[in-house]
Amino acid sequence: MAALRVVPAAAGHLVSLPGWFDTPEALAMWGGGGLRFPLGGDQIAAMLAETTTDPPLRLAFAGLLDDTTVAHAQIVLDWPNGVARLARFALAPSHRGKGLARPFLAEVFARLDEAGDFPRLELNVYVQNTRAIRLYESLGFTREGVRRSSTRVGEARWDVAIYAIIRQD
Ligand SMILES: CC(C)(COP(=O)(O)OP(=O)(O)OC[C@H]1O[C@@H](n2cnc3c(N)ncnc32)[C@H](O)[C@@H]1OP(=O)(O)O)[C@@H](O)C(=O)NCCC(=O)NCCS
Repeated sequence: MAALRVVPAAAGHLVSLPGWFDTPEALAMWGGGGLRFPLGGDQIAAMLAETTTDPPLRLAFAGLLDDTTVAHAQIVLDWPNGVARLARFALAPSHRGKGLARPFLAEVFARLDEAGDFPRLELNVYVQNTRAIRLYESLGFTREGVRRSSTRVGEARWDVAIYAIIRQD
């Protein structure tokens, strides 16, 4: 397999992204309750607009194998507090279960360190997303609590777990 290359995400890298989420539930599992299904270019553009502010409110990355985007993640930056939140992380369905998540995230976190000093790295994950939770716990993220019934998805309400790493620990 070609080496995974991590680059700042531009709209052109994310053309295939809507196809990674084939139901409203899959989209919400990735992006939270605030997105409209199906994911559209307008919603992707709104996310990417936050990467070009000064300072950026968000970093966005694409993981490329050859020229195909197989991974995507964003990091939301709270500069005054030095808090970074991993968000909207996914692998292309065809590239899950192949051990790509870990090297991709390692590179994303290295890029975060280049961007600034963020001692707290956090993320939100729905409690039923066992695959993602296993990955995050294996990377050292600690569960801090659960916001119960905090997201509406169709007729359902989902609980979100808050995870973080304090990076000087
Ligand atoms: C969450 C997500 C990114 C995790 O990706 P993933 O494919 O499960 O993670 P990996 O690529 O690290 O694969 C790990 C699994 O593949 C297996 N695997 C297969 N080949 C492997 C290899 N060469 N090296 C390492 N692991 C390999 C591992 O055994 C591991 O399984 P295990 O955890 O049961 O031991 C992915 O499931 C996804 O995109 N989900 C949809 C979006 C989403 O929910 N995002 C998270 C929002 S919080």
